[in-house]
Amino acid sequence: FSGKSYTGDNDIFSILSDISRNCTFNKHERSSGIKVELVHLFSLSPPLTQIAEPRRILAEWYFPNEEKTPEIPNKISPFLPPQTFRALPNLILPEESAAVVVAAAAAVTMNKDVLTVLVFLLVVAIARHATASVELRETASRLRVGYYNSTCPKAEEIVREAVTARHAVDPTIAAGLIRLYFHDCFGCDASILLDETPSGDPVEKSSSANGFTLRGLDVIDAAKSALESACPATVSCADVLAFAARDAAALAGLRRYAVPAGRRDGVVSLASDVPSGLPSPAYSVDNMTALFARKGFSPAEMVVLAGAHSVGGAHCVAFSNRLYNFSATAEQDPAMDATYAAHLRTLCPLPATLADVAKQPKVDFDPRTATTLDTSYYVGLQTGRGLLASDQALMRDRRARAIVQRMAQDPRKWARKFAKAMVKLGEVEVLVGDKEGQIRTDCRFVNADTDIPFFGIIPGGIL
Ligand code: HEM
Repeated sequence: FSGKSYTGDNDIFSILSDISRNCTFNKHERSSGIKVELVHLFSLSPPLTQIAEPRRILAEWYFPNEEKTPEIPNKISPFLPPQTFRALPNLILPEESAAVVVAAAAAVTMNKDVLTVLVFLLVVAIARHATASVELRETASRLRVGYYNSTCPKAEEIVREAVTARHAVDPTIAAGLIRLYFHDCFGCDASILLDETPSGDPVEKSSSANGFTLRGLDVIDAAKSALESACPATVSCADVLAFAARDAAALAGLRRYAVPAGRRDGVVSLASDVPSGLPSPAYSVDNMTALFARKGFSPAEMVVLAGAHSVGGAHCVAFSNRLYNFSATAEQDPAMDATYAAHLRTLCPLPATLADVAKQPKVDFDPRTATTLDTSYYVGLQTGRGLLASDQALMRDRRARAIVQRMAQDPRKWARKFAKAMVKLGEVEVLVGDKEGQIRTDCRFVNADTDIPFFGIIPGGIL
C-alpha cells in the first residue's frame, strides 16, 4: 500500500485492512513500533474500535497466539480498551525498544518510509526515556521559588490576575487548568500548549485523551500575553502553566503553595506519545501505578493526586461503558452504586449512533462541590460513587484502598500532600538552563528561529 495517502479518521479502517492484506508480521514485529502506530491510529479515532473488522484485526494483533480471536469488549469509550495497553509499558523501556528497532529493521518487509517513521518514533521514545530519570533528579533541584524575582518581579502576580479574572466568570476553569497542568506535566515543558511544531507531526493536543476535553488554554494565552508586555521573552510557558495550576488550586480552596520555577519550553509535541504517557479511565491500579512510577511517583502519591477528581467532571463517553451492557452477567458495573448508576443513565442515555456519542454531556465528579478541591472524591469511592472505572478501581486494591480511607478521614492531611505532589508533578522531565528548550513568546508556537529537531534532538539541547 506504499504511496497511498490516508487522511483523517475515516481512513483508519482502510489502513488496517491494507496492513492486514499486505503485510505479514512475525513475533518481533508484533511487539514493535508498528503496534505503537496502530495504537495511535485507534487513539485518534477510537469509536471505530467498535466496528467489527478493525476490532477483529486489532484483537488478532494483540493476541496472536490465541486459537480463537478474542473479543475486544464492546464498550463505548474514546479511550483504548485495556487489552490495547497491555504491551505498551514495554515500549518505553530503552533496551527493549532498541532491540525491537533492530529486530524490526532486520525483518520488516514493508514500505521503507513507514519503517523510517517507526524507527524515528522509537528513537524519540528512547531518547526521552533515557534522559527522563536522570533529569528528574538533577533538573528539579535547579528550579527555585522566586525565580523571576529580579527578571520579572510581577510574573506570578500577572498569572494570578489572569486566572482570577477567568475564575470570577467561570469557577469550573480551575479544574480545567489543573488537568491541563497534569497532562503537560508528565513531561513539564508546555508541549501540550503547542498548536503545531516545525516537524509537522500531530501534536499532543490532537490525541483523543486531550482533544476537545482540554480547557484553560485561553487563560494561559491571556497570562502569557500580559507577561510578554511586562517582560518580553522572559517567563516560560511551562512556568506560566505551573503558576496557573497553583492559582487554580488556591481558588478551588487549597492553601496557596510556593511553586519553584525556571522551566524552559519544549519544541516537540507528539500525539503519539500520549497513549502511553497518560492514564486511561480503563486503566487498572497496576497500570496506573506503573505509569506513575515511571514518572517518579509512589502509589500513595498517585492516590493523593487522583483526589483532583473532586473538581470538574468527565464526558459520558469516558464512563458509559460502566452503565450499559457491562458484562455477560451484569448490565452495569457492579462496583458502582446502583442508585448512582441509575442517575448517571438519565444523564447519559445510550447513544443511538456514533455521532450521538460526541453530543453527550459532561458529568461532575462531585456534583455537590464540583468547584471545590476537597476529599469528597475519596468519600465517594467508599460508597461506589467513583465516576471513572479507574477511580473506583482504587477501592479494589488493598494498598490504594487504605490510602483512600486515610485521605477521606483527614482532609487537611490530603490538602498538604496534594500541594506537595503538585509541586513534584511540576518537576517531571523539565527543561532547564540556557541550553535546553527555549522561552516561547507565544505558547501555541515555537519561536520563529527554532531549528527543526533531528531525531528528537535540537542543536544545544534534548527534546
Ligand atoms: C490516575 C489516573 C487518571 C485518570 C485515568 C484520569 C482520567 C480523566 C478523565 C477521563 C477525565 C475526564 C475528561 C473529560 O471527559 O473531559 C479526567 C478529568 C479530570 N482530571 Fe483526571 N485522570 C487521572 C488523574 C488525574 C490527576 C493526577 C489529575 C491532577 C493532578 C487529574 C485532574 C483532572 C481534572 C481536574 C479533571 C476535570 C477536568 C475538567 O472538568 O475540565 N486527573 N481525568
